[in-house]
Amino acid sequence: SSVHLNALMIEKGGFEHYMLKEINEQPEVVRACLRAYSDPPRFRNQLIFDSTTDSLTLTACGTSYHAAEVGKFIIEELTGIPVRLEIASEIRHRPTIIKTAKAIGLSQSGETADVLTSLKRMKEAGIETIALTNVFQSSISRIADDTIYIPAGPEVAVAATKTFVAQIIALIKLALAHQSVDRTMRDQINLELERIPHKIQQILDNRHLIKQATSLVAAADQVFFIAKGVNVPIALEGALKAKEIAYINAEGFCAGELKHGPFALLSPSSTVIAIIAGDENQASITASVREIQARKSKVVCITRENDSTFNDSTDNILRIPSTHRLLSPILNAVVVQLLAYYTAEARGCPIDFPRNLAKSVTVE
Ligand code: G6P
Repeated sequence: SSVHLNALMIEKGGFEHYMLKEINEQPEVVRACLRAYSDPPRFRNQLIFDSTTDSLTLTACGTSYHAAEVGKFIIEELTGIPVRLEIASEIRHRPTIIKTAKAIGLSQSGETADVLTSLKRMKEAGIETIALTNVFQSSISRIADDTIYIPAGPEVAVAATKTFVAQIIALIKLALAHQSVDRTMRDQINLELERIPHKIQQILDNRHLIKQATSLVAAADQVFFIAKGVNVPIALEGALKAKEIAYINAEGFCAGELKHGPFALLSPSSTVIAIIAGDENQASITASVREIQARKSKVVCITRENDSTFNDSTDNILRIPSTHRLLSPILNAVVVQLLAYYTAEARGCPIDFPRNLAKSVTVE
């Protein structure tokens, strides 16, 4: 009935889908994270990530695993501490191979069976366990020795969006809390973090441009996402989102790996989304883009507003605000979320509740 429909629209904050509502909440979610994690000494104690921590393991599934991948890159670069990354459904069968003293299990819902089991097994193996979750008093927080909450608020759409960004902020703040981080670097990143909500808002305000670009994605037989460095997990996440909600055959790659196989699949009916962060990788990924164009595949470049490498009249470009290199995954994540959203919409997919998928997978 129309009364029921109206009630639903209110619940979705006036947006057509929960997913779009949750994407739009991201500036506020980042602000909430920055407030929650604004007390470094307390945060540090709570996180037990101090000078005695010389190694760390992160385990998760799905989108949370991609957040862990971003976290690994940033923690390693800022602190020099080696971070081990494990898919929860795999490591649960061999927990004793982990030699690190501490492990963090990332789970938005706090109920994903594989993450719960892997953390339990690691705890039994004598490892100190920490949960990173969005749900207060969820199963994962009862298992773990300690819990870090992300203040993202309830997430309804099956495809995780705002909680992904919140997990990344939590891991960045965790890294920054470590004593070994260079002070100037810490100040720079903290300053840039304050500007992230506004920059996400700018992307959201220009989302019609992303919607326009989706015609190249929605009609493609296959879609590849490529990136380098800290943005590689965003290429994987972009492909996951395209599969999950738009039912598109999509894969994410390190740009340099394209020529070692996937290149054979390039054709005029494939589209490549290139994430270009404007860092020391710029020349190399630009070369990849030119090679792909020479094979007549379509390319959509996600790049910074001031990047003069690409020509607006011949290349398909999505320009977004510049930020610190290590924070660029946050902004690029919002772009790939919107790309997947509008592609799913163009293809008439149900978006919030995709076929065969569940918000939390509580069976093994
Ligand atoms: C399911 C959801 C994904 C999510 C994954 C991990 O597959 O559909 O969106 O990323 O579970 O969920 P978690 O709650 O553990 O982060």
